[in-house]
Amino acid sequence: MLSEDVRSRIAAHRWYHTIDLGGGVITAGVDDTSQRLARLGMPASLSGLSVLDVGAWDGFFSFECERRGAARVLATDYYSWHGPSWGSKAGFELARQALGSRVEDLDIDVMDLSPERLGTFDMVMFLGVLYHLRHPLLALERVASVTRGTLILETVVDLVGLERPAAAFYPGRELNNDPTNWWGPNPAAVAGMLESVGFHDIRMITNLPGWLYRAGRAGWHHLKGKNRLPLAFRQDRAVFHASKSEAQR
Ligand SMILES: C[S@@+](CC[C@H](N)C(=O)[O-])C[C@H]1O[C@@H](n2cnc3c(N)ncnc32)[C@H](O)[C@@H]1O
Repeated sequence: MLSEDVRSRIAAHRWYHTIDLGGGVITAGVDDTSQRLARLGMPASLSGLSVLDVGAWDGFFSFECERRGAARVLATDYYSWHGPSWGSKAGFELARQALGSRVEDLDIDVMDLSPERLGTFDMVMFLGVLYHLRHPLLALERVASVTRGTLILETVVDLVGLERPAAAFYPGRELNNDPTNWWGPNPAAVAGMLESVGFHDIRMITNLPGWLYRAGRAGWHHLKGKNRLPLAFRQDRAVFHASKSEAQR
């Protein structure tokens, strides 16, 4: 049972994730998090596994892995926990307290991930972070260095339909009117980057919708002022699964 103090702090917090904390309390997140969970293809059981959640923010996906039986979950982040104009760590801490969770946390930039500092993990989640990075290939190298099993990567993809590996660059607010976005690789570029940092069995598990749906959605985004029509038409979000080979573990 949540105390009145915890309930009022939950109500006052500006949430990113929508998290069911039990007792009828659901955080007022701006993100439709359970809908995104359904698209990840996360195994139903993570029994006994170690999991790293890179860029965890309020921690929904970390708590979900714990719920699915992971033996150890480490949530890491920096910008949304401390950075200007993002948010704070209070949501993660409140949710952990409310859920009685044992998820661990570490303040660290993705660029500072290393096996020497963190060890390696059976499953690594890198969700909604790649396109926020100025140096995405370098970041994937750091992520690969701490993955000994499976990577689940969720990202914006752009230039959809172009088969040659390529990435859109966002020097301004070209993606969602948000200046913290930098690169939108197309699916072939994501696969190529993952391969180049040592992953194999790379699969995009998202079925991207056809052009008619894309056109309607692009029009809607345009009307909402999120994006320009021809750009939005080529943008989407996709989930990739990839593994490290035995030799690299
Ligand atoms: C769109 S949110 C995604 C949060 C969560 N992973 C999810 O999928 O719902 C992007 C997250 O990436 C984190 N992030 C951005 N740049 C980062 C960096 N250089 N190192 C670590 N995390 C970073 C932000 O702090 C934020 O929590």
